[in-house]
Amino acid sequence: MTETTEAALSNLSHEERRFPPSEEFAANANVKADIYAEAAKDRPAFWAKQAERLTWSKKWDQVLDWSNPPFAKWFVGGQLNVAYNCLDRHVEAGLGDRVAYYFEGEPGDTRTITYQQLTDMVCQAANTLEELGVKTGDRVAIYMPMIPETIVAMLACARIGAPHTVVFGGFSADALGTRIDDCQAKIVITADGGYRRGAASALKPAVDEALSTRPEVTTVLVVKRTGQDIGWTDGRDLWWHDTVEKASASHKPEAFDSEHPLYVMYTSGTTGKPKGILHTSGGYLLGCSYTQWEVFDLKAETDVYWTAADIGWVTGHSYIVYGPLSNATTSVMYEGTPDTPHKGRWWEIIDKYKVTTLYCAPTTIRTFMKWGKEVPEKYSLDTLKLIGSVGEPINPEAYIWYRDNIGHDKAPVVDTWWQTETGSLMISPLPGVTAGKPGAAMTALPGIAADVVDAAGDSVPNGGGGYLVITEPWPSMLRTIWGDDARYKETYWSKFPGVYFAGDGAKKDEDGDIWLLGRVDDVMNISGHRLSTTEIESALVSNPKVAEAAVVGASDETTGQAVVAFVILRAEAGDGGEHIVKELRDHVAKQIGAIAKPRQIMVVTELPKTRSGKIMRRLLVDVAENRPVGDVTTLADSGVMDAIRTGMETNSGADD
Ligand code: WT7
Repeated sequence: MTETTEAALSNLSHEERRFPPSEEFAANANVKADIYAEAAKDRPAFWAKQAERLTWSKKWDQVLDWSNPPFAKWFVGGQLNVAYNCLDRHVEAGLGDRVAYYFEGEPGDTRTITYQQLTDMVCQAANTLEELGVKTGDRVAIYMPMIPETIVAMLACARIGAPHTVVFGGFSADALGTRIDDCQAKIVITADGGYRRGAASALKPAVDEALSTRPEVTTVLVVKRTGQDIGWTDGRDLWWHDTVEKASASHKPEAFDSEHPLYVMYTSGTTGKPKGILHTSGGYLLGCSYTQWEVFDLKAETDVYWTAADIGWVTGHSYIVYGPLSNATTSVMYEGTPDTPHKGRWWEIIDKYKVTTLYCAPTTIRTFMKWGKEVPEKYSLDTLKLIGSVGEPINPEAYIWYRDNIGHDKAPVVDTWWQTETGSLMISPLPGVTAGKPGAAMTALPGIAADVVDAAGDSVPNGGGGYLVITEPWPSMLRTIWGDDARYKETYWSKFPGVYFAGDGAKKDEDGDIWLLGRVDDVMNISGHRLSTTEIESALVSNPKVAEAAVVGASDETTGQAVVAFVILRAEAGDGGEHIVKELRDHVAKQIGAIAKPRQIMVVTELPKTRSGKIMRRLLVDVAENRPVGDVTTLADSGVMDAIRTGMETNSGADD
């Protein structure tokens, strides 16, 4: 009898069901239950042991320097080259012919790239960057579609010690520009465009627009992906195929300090200005490498691993690029959207490449649920042995659907909690050890110390809820916010002195397992991507027609949360008909990117505020979620809420 029928007979709710690993899975798993105790006994010693999986040019003198918290140094005195660890050492070990990536372009074009080929490509790109004057420590901005050259560009930067900052291709010219400013990138690597939703989608025009006011960027390296017409600035723009592809494929990797900056990844915070999260070399690579092997139970000789995320987010950095390559994994890389040219595209890819491991976001799983199980049923998913989830809490219904219809009730689901800041997985089941609970991320991984605390910072008992904190430093932790140590301390280490505050609410169940409850700050989670309410409010008020704006995240069946904006218009804007709603939605897309476009904009005449003038977002969330409005006793003018409700009925933005 399968577990599914067993559960059906016993009438358990989705949330009450438990999924222990099969005996066979447990027996063959990379890590066993005793790992937790081993790690807890001496955490730095545990990490020092795991760090042997990397190749160090010079061994460290000290595992962890935590003498100046919250500024951690891991593997002090150690030296390594991240690209060498991801490439050359595998080739030297005789794995040059192993496939690093099966690339599947959205239009159906494919490329198979071996470790030898990838090493050569990265060496060519490293030589080119050096010829263009990029030096160790210089920042390189990467604004690319999901194509192998994006990975090549990142690794070439790593190889020469030039930190990269990858800006998601869906971000606007403005968003790209502010990130270039913040980290003072002097070169941009881009492409003419990429394929999305069945069409060529341009990237280069956004680079041109961003650079029109930024003459400091002297070089733009352009990959030809779509062949679409693009603007060209002589003396600044260079084709990748005229430079990189003509360069020498021999390049000697230099060893850098373990704490040498590897990359900066921008993420939304509670203010309008994104934070540049800095990751360094040794500890970060260890975190990605070890957790991919541990949690995805990687068998590098036989697995075909697929993280279906964009490289523009941390998931792509850690689990498409650095984790998989450091472990000599064979990965799949897919350029486009799941429904192009048909809704079975992902399952067709899994069938075709015999994918063993799939890692994706709950929002996508819920979309697949909507499309129906008949779609994946048409393909063979038999090779899948483990499936993962990341980005937001996975609701028990989606977990069970995923497990039944994709994992065929045999592949364990790993719900992995982590953040751009944490660099690698932090809270997750171990698939060979943990009995999974739909909806729970379970416990901190070996070597990680997480807790749930109350407002006073005291650990809550089992059954209690509060704030998620990490109580000990870990190797892949962020080192600071680029150029802003004060904000780093203030954001993460001040709410509860001495421990890292993640910004998430969480509860411990009766067994002490952790359930994530979503953000507790003004940060929204839209399709697993972080967006700040303040950032979108700033974008709205930068439109001359807007006097005031308040943005909230309202729960959404597919995307988890959706952006809902309330705006007060200036008199000259007129009455606020449909055209202004469209104009403002487009304005936000232009300022930040399409992902930030409000689902709804409600034109109102007043916003609910406390007597001290603070906007009461909680009430706006009630309105946006169509619930009766909560306690309004602290509201300066309680008639405001009725006015907003009336406004809402007439001003919903059309969904596109
Ligand atoms: C925030 C981090 C980590 C890569 C993707 C997002 C939420 C992430 C889970 C999960 C519940 C989750 C949290 C976190 N989150 N994974 N498994 N269960 N919530 O990275 O953009 O840095 O966002 O995503 O709220 O703080 P990010």
